[in-house]
Amino acid sequence: MIKPPYKLRCEYVENPIEIDTPFPRFSWILEHEQRNQSQSAYQIIVSSEESLLNSEKGDLWDTGKIISENNINIEYNGKPLKSNEMYFWHVKWWDKDNSESSFSRFSSFGMALLEKSDWKSKWISKKDFVDKKTRISLQYKSGGVGLFGRLKEVNAIYLRKEFNVEKQIEAAKLYISGLGYYELRLNGKKIGDRILEPAQTDYNKIALYSTYDIIDHLQERNAIGVILGNGRCVELYGYDFPKLIVQIQIQYTDGTSEIICTDESWKLSTGPILENGIYYGEKFDARLEMPGWDNPNFEDSAWDNVSVVEGYNLASQLMQPIQITKVMTPQKVESPQPGMYIYDFGQNFTGFIRLKVQGPRGCQVKVRFAELIKEDGTLNTATNRSAPVTDIYILKGEREEIYQPHFTYHGFRYVELTGFPGVPSKDSIEGYFFHSNVPKVGEFFCSNELINKIHTNIIWGQLSNLMSIPTDCPQRDERHGWMGDAQIVSEEAMLNFDMALFYTKYLRDIQLSQKEDGSISDVVPPHWPIYPADPAWGSAYITIAWHIYWYYSDIRVLKEHYESFKLYIEFLSNTSKDNILSIGKYGDWCPPMCIVSKRTPIDLVSTWYYYHDTLIFSKIAKILGNDKDCTYYSEKAKEIKDAFNREFLMHTYKYIKVSFTDRAISQTSNVLPLSLNMVPENREKEILNSLIEAIRGHYDYHMDTGLVGTRYILEVLTENGYPEIAYKMITQTSFPSLGYMIKEGATTIWERWEKLESSGMNSQNHIMLGSVDTWFYKTLAGIKSLTPGWKTFRIKPFISEDMNYAQAKLNSIKGLIYSAWEKKDLNFKLTVIIPVGCDAEVWVPIKDENSPIKEGDTVIWDREERGTGHLGITFKSKEDNYVVFNIGSGYYEFSS
Ligand code: BGC
Repeated sequence: MIKPPYKLRCEYVENPIEIDTPFPRFSWILEHEQRNQSQSAYQIIVSSEESLLNSEKGDLWDTGKIISENNINIEYNGKPLKSNEMYFWHVKWWDKDNSESSFSRFSSFGMALLEKSDWKSKWISKKDFVDKKTRISLQYKSGGVGLFGRLKEVNAIYLRKEFNVEKQIEAAKLYISGLGYYELRLNGKKIGDRILEPAQTDYNKIALYSTYDIIDHLQERNAIGVILGNGRCVELYGYDFPKLIVQIQIQYTDGTSEIICTDESWKLSTGPILENGIYYGEKFDARLEMPGWDNPNFEDSAWDNVSVVEGYNLASQLMQPIQITKVMTPQKVESPQPGMYIYDFGQNFTGFIRLKVQGPRGCQVKVRFAELIKEDGTLNTATNRSAPVTDIYILKGEREEIYQPHFTYHGFRYVELTGFPGVPSKDSIEGYFFHSNVPKVGEFFCSNELINKIHTNIIWGQLSNLMSIPTDCPQRDERHGWMGDAQIVSEEAMLNFDMALFYTKYLRDIQLSQKEDGSISDVVPPHWPIYPADPAWGSAYITIAWHIYWYYSDIRVLKEHYESFKLYIEFLSNTSKDNILSIGKYGDWCPPMCIVSKRTPIDLVSTWYYYHDTLIFSKIAKILGNDKDCTYYSEKAKEIKDAFNREFLMHTYKYIKVSFTDRAISQTSNVLPLSLNMVPENREKEILNSLIEAIRGHYDYHMDTGLVGTRYILEVLTENGYPEIAYKMITQTSFPSLGYMIKEGATTIWERWEKLESSGMNSQNHIMLGSVDTWFYKTLAGIKSLTPGWKTFRIKPFISEDMNYAQAKLNSIKGLIYSAWEKKDLNFKLTVIIPVGCDAEVWVPIKDENSPIKEGDTVIWDREERGTGHLGITFKSKEDNYVVFNIGSGYYEFSS
C-alpha cells in the first residue's frame, strides 16, 4: 500500500472558507517509501456532504482515474459551486508502478459570495461625514514626490446592531469589509486575531471583504459591534470617508436560512478612539469607553442613526491576514531625563506596544517610537521623517489598565514613555510584531555567523514590509507599495515564505492601477499616483507574475494578466526611441554614496528592464500557446538587445555612458547584460574580465550597486565561475557592505549603504538590498529550480574554503526539498531530500580525481561511472570539481 496524499490545499490554503472563484484549484503533496517515485494518475472527489465522501461517492465532481503526473493546481470542473456553501474533497493517487493509494483524509473549502447580487447588505457610514459636517481634517504637507498625509482629531466610529437567533444553527458565516480598517466584535469579544483589516487596495476599484465562521460565537440574543478606523480611506488618497458593509448568513438545521445585513437600522457613536492614522498614531481616552457597547441589551437610544452610502466593488480577501507573530520583550529600560523612559527591544520591527498602567483618572501617557537613539539616550526620530508616530493613552483611573492601539502601526526598536504615573517597570510594555502572516517555507543556516546574521536581518526586514502590500519601509511617512522594492526581493520572499496568495492579490492591484495607455504607477495601490513607473519599478508586474508561475506552477495568473502585460510592453515600446527607454527616474537606486547612481546610467537600467520584460513576455506567450505573440516579442527583444549594445557597449570593454565623468567601471552596467546573456559572444570574456578586475582592484571586493545591481551581481559572478568573489563581497564588514551595517548595529537592512542618522533617505528597515538572500539558497545551499513548479531542479552547493557547513530546507509546492553539506575532518557529506515527482541534478564536489563518492555505504563513483541504477542514481557527467548525478525522489547521503 502506498501512502495517501497529504497537505491538501485549495487555492493554496488548507481549509479556506473564502473562495470566490467558481473554479478553485486543488493541490496535494505525496510521500513514498521508495526512491525515484512519481505520480502516474490521480482521482479527486468533491461532495456537498462529508458523509458522501465516506461512501466514496461525489455528488459534484468525480474525476475518475486521470492519467497525469500533475498534483498542483488541478482546476475544478464539476457541477456549479454555490455561494456561501461548504464542500468536501479528497484525493488518491497511483505511483509510477501503478500501485494505488487509499483516499486521503478529506479536506473542506467554503465558497464566499460569487455574485454581486449575493450581497443584500448596504454600505453604511456616519451621517456627518456624508453631510461634510465633520470632515476628516487632513493636514496636507507636500514634499518630494507626493503628499504626506496626517490625520488629526478624527475619531474612530463605533457601529452596532442587535439580533436574535431563535432556531438551531447549522452554519453561520459573516462577511465584512470596513474601510479604512475595522475591528469586528460579537457579543463582547473581538472576532478573530486579524489586525489592520482589510488588506489595502485601491478602494475606488475594489475593496476586499473577509469571511469569518461565527457559529461558535452566536447565542440567542446577539450584538455585533464594529469599530471603523481611517487607514487610507480618506480624502488624501482619493476616497470620501470610512464606511462599512457586513452580511451574516445563518443556515438553520430545519433547512431555513436568514441574512442579517448592514442597513439603516444600525446605530453609530463616537467613542474613546479620538484620533487614529497610520502615520499619526492613535489617541485613546479610556474615560470615554462604553462598557457593554458590543454586548446585547446595551442602551443605545442616544446613539445616532447611520447613513446608507455609496459603496465599492467587493472581492474576497483570499490572502493571509496581518497577525501578531511574536511577542517582544524589552531588553532594557533607561531614564535619560526625569519623567522620560526609553525602552530598547534590541530588534527593529513593525507593530505596536501593549501598555500596562495604573494611575489617576485623566492622566495622559504618551508613547513615541523610533528606530534610533541619540548619544544622550533620547529618541532619534529622524527616520520617521514627518510621521508623528505617537500613541496617547488617557487613563480612566481604575486598577490596572491595559491598552494597545487599533488602527496604526509603527516601525521601531526604541520606545519612549512620558507622562507615566510613577516609575514604569520593564514589563509595563510589551511589543507585538505583526505583518501579513505568510507561512514560512524556507530555512537557511550555515557555519558563517555573519551570513546567518544577514539572513536573519533580511527575514525581519522582509516581514516588516509585508503589510497586505509589499511596502518600502514601515516607519516613515511613506510605507507605500513602491514596486521597485517589491519586485527586486520577490524571489527572496518566495524562497522564505509562501507568497502565492499575497502576490496574486498584489498583481491584481497592479492590474487595477494600469491606465488606458498601458502605464502603471511606481506606487501600487496608487495612493501616490506616480505615472509612468520607472521601468525597474514597473517590472514588478511581469517579474512577480513570472516568479509565481515559476515557484507555484501557476498558469492562471499568466492568463489573467496576459492582455495587461501586453499593454504594458506596448506602453514601453511606444515611449522608447530607437528601442532605448528614457522614462526612468531612479535606475540603480541608492548605490553607495548617492541616491541616483553616478556610474550606472538610468537609461541603461530602464532599457535593460525593457528587454527583460519583453523577453519574459515572449516566454509567457509561448506558455499560453500564443505563437504569433511569442515570435513577435522575441524578435522585439532581440531588437532591444541590439539597441542596448549599440548604445551602451563601449569599445573600452565596459558598459557605460561616455558622458559620465566618473570613469570607474560600473558594476551594475556590466552585471545586467551578463545576467541575461546580452553581451555579444566575442566580447563576453572582456566584459567579465573588466568587471572582475574592477571588483578586485578599484572596489576591493565591495559592492558598488544600488537596488538593481545588488539583486544580480552575486548570481552573475557565480554563474560565470567566480563564486569565491561573490563570497568575499557578501562577507565584507567594511563600508559599503551588509556586514558593515551589522557591525554598526543593524538588526534589519538599511535603505542606504551609509550610516545615516539625520534627516532624509535613511530608513533602517528597507528590504530592497535583502535580495542577496537568494544567493544563500541558490549558491551556498545550492538549490536552484530548473523548470516551473520544482519539477526539476539542481543541487550544486558552492563549498567555500571558509565554511564548514550550510543547509537549507524548502517546503516547496511539491514537498520538502533539503540540501545540507558538511566538511568533517577529511570527509565531505551532502544530504539531500527530493520530493516525490521531482527530478534533481546533484553536483557532488570532489577534492581530486582520486576521491571516490559514496551514497550511503555504496561507492557510486571512483573516476568511472558505476552501475548505480538500483539506487535510483544515474551518473550524468563530470564537470570541473563536481561529479553530477541525476536522481529521483527520496533521501540521499553522498560522501566523498
Ligand atoms: C522609497 C523607496 C522607493 C523610492 C523610489 C523612496 O522614498 O522609500 O524605497 O523605491 O522612493 O525611488
